[in-house]
This record gives sequence, C-alpha cells and structure tokens, in this order.
Amino acid sequence: MEFKSKIKTIEWIDNYSKMVDQTVIPYEYKFINITSGDEMFNAIRNMIVRGAPAIGIAGAHGIILYAQELAGKSLDRESFINELIKKAEYMKTSRPTAVNLMWAVDKQIEVIKNSKSDIAGIIKELKINGIKLENEDIEINKKIGDYGAEVVPKGAAILTHCNAGALATVGYGTALGVIRSAYAKDNTIQVFADETRPRQQGARITTFELAMDGIPVTLITDGMCSYFMKKGMIDMVVVGADRIAANGDTANKIGTYTVAIAAKYHNIPFYIAAPLSTIDISIKTGDEIPIEERSHDEVTHINGKPVCPLSGVNIINPGFDVTPHELIAGIITEKGILRPEYNKSIAEIFKQ
Ligand code: MRU
Repeated sequence: MEFKSKIKTIEWIDNYSKMVDQTVIPYEYKFINITSGDEMFNAIRNMIVRGAPAIGIAGAHGIILYAQELAGKSLDRESFINELIKKAEYMKTSRPTAVNLMWAVDKQIEVIKNSKSDIAGIIKELKINGIKLENEDIEINKKIGDYGAEVVPKGAAILTHCNAGALATVGYGTALGVIRSAYAKDNTIQVFADETRPRQQGARITTFELAMDGIPVTLITDGMCSYFMKKGMIDMVVVGADRIAANGDTANKIGTYTVAIAAKYHNIPFYIAAPLSTIDISIKTGDEIPIEERSHDEVTHINGKPVCPLSGVNIINPGFDVTPHELIAGIITEKGILRPEYNKSIAEIFKQ
C-alpha cells in the first residue's frame, strides 16, 4: 500500500539538476540548482546530496552536465565521447563506498557508448536516461516498501540507523520506504531513530522527514539501542545499504554493525532494505568493500564547535562499516525479500 510522501530529493530540470541541500536540514529546507559537472562532483563529495541511491542519480545528472559543457568546446564526436567518458570515470571517484554511484554512472556510459547520434543527440539520450533512472528509483522504493511492510509486525517499534529515507533516494526511501508502506497499513507502528554520529543523519534527516510525513518517531543516541532492545521496546530493525557483497555482507553507515550485533543478541530481526543496484556481485565478501575515510572535523566538532581537545587526541573517521551476512534476517529488494543463504539467493535473483 502506498504512502503519499511529499519529498522529491533530486530532479532533472531542462538543463540543470535541482536538489535538496541536505547540509542545512533541519534548520532549513531549501533547494539548490547544480549547473556544472564539477559542481555536482563537489555536491556529492561534500554531501549536499547523500544516500546511496540519491548519489547514483546525482552522478547520472552530473554526466549530462559534463556533456553540456563539452558540447560548447567544438570537439569532434569521437573526442567528445572520449572526454565525456573520462569525466564519467572521474565522477565515480566523488565517493567510494556506495556502489549505486558507479552503477548509475555506468548506465550513462552505456548510453554514450551505444549511441548512434550526433553530440546533441547523445545529450538528449543522456537526459532521457537520467530522468528514467530518477522515476525508476521511486517505483523501486515503493516495491521495496510493499515487500518490507509484509514482515512488519502489527504495532511494531522499528529501529533504523542513519537515513535511508526519501532524502537518501529520489523519493519514498528504502528502509523508510518500508516504514512508510507499513504505516499506510497500520498507523500504530512507530520508529526509533539512532542519532548516527558523527554526521547525525538520523537526528537531522530521518527525524525531519518522518516528522514532515507525520510518522511517529523517537530520537535516541547511538549507544542507547541495546538498552531499548533489552527492555523489549524494539521489535525489528530496518536499515539501508551502500554496498552489498555477493555473500550478503552489507556496508552501511558506521554504527550499523553494532546495531546488528545488539539485535542478534536480543533475538530481534535485522533487515536491510536496498535496491538490486546496491548489490555488487563482482565482490565476494564485505572485506573487499572500500570504506570511505572522512574528515576528522566530523568527529572533533558538532555544529562547528569542538567536542574534544584539538591537540593530543588521535582521530579516525571511517564513514561505513560492514555487517556480516550472518546477522541479517533478510535483504528487502524490489524483487522480494532475499533470505540466507545469500550466496544462493543473490546469485538466483541476478539470473532472472
Ligand atoms: O554518508 P551517507 O549519509 O551518504 O550514508 C548514507 C547511508 O549509509 C544510508 O544508510 C545508505 O546510503 C542507504 S540510503 C537508501
């Protein structure tokens, strides 16, 4: 069952990309227009747009922007294509962990390589494909929502980590898509949102979008999850994913692994909700997933103010961790819920 969500995170408009600026939420809800390929690279790297599926679409838009710029350089068709593919490869390096970025940019590279058109025609085809990927993302999330809602118990309290919502996708969300679809069937469910240090996507973004849609949400800090699990106040966990290996090992925002261990200990089902584009069947296990190391300021500061001495303290800031497949009850995709053994269920779904 569909829930009407008001949020559209990213959208291609004529010759630019319009997106929600996620760096200012919850203080402001504003849109910015990205008009060049390099601007898009920086928007992804600096997390103006964030969340695996959303950065995929942003990357796809970025290729259209680079194509528009190169079209003004009076290159012949072959040089235009070669330069554009170099730019596309560069766009893929804007963030390393979420494979949706590489997946969506590769979809645009396919369009470029398969095109029989002149330069103007290639740009038109890239726009058509960019908009198609955008629309498909929302449709996929609604399907994930419908499959996921089937495993949400009546009146459930659902814990989520980071933001895998409308604002991490084009709209509706993956983990929060499950929650939206479940809420449409049963408005007695409620959400517990982990704060998600260091960047606080749970506090800033998940609570913001759930409150905007009127879905009951309680904010907790990351260390509180086992406390509430022990008290019997959490019935299930649903989180998103940035990259899933062929054996089901799943990279998601740092702290997800801790939640999964706590859920296993308390016998609470821990689900991943993600589109098939998040599954990277080229890698066998989570050990091969590249983990982004982010700026130390994210740990040492909150809202520009230091939270520790700024000298004499070592800082490490991995952006993601990998939850081993043994801890995952199911991977909710647009084609149904994959169950262990993931080596088999993932291979099977990619054969279809
Ligand atoms: O660093 P971020 O904010 O881009 O990380 C986001 C997450 O880890 C999300 O949980 C993940 O991308 C899934 S989004 C549907």
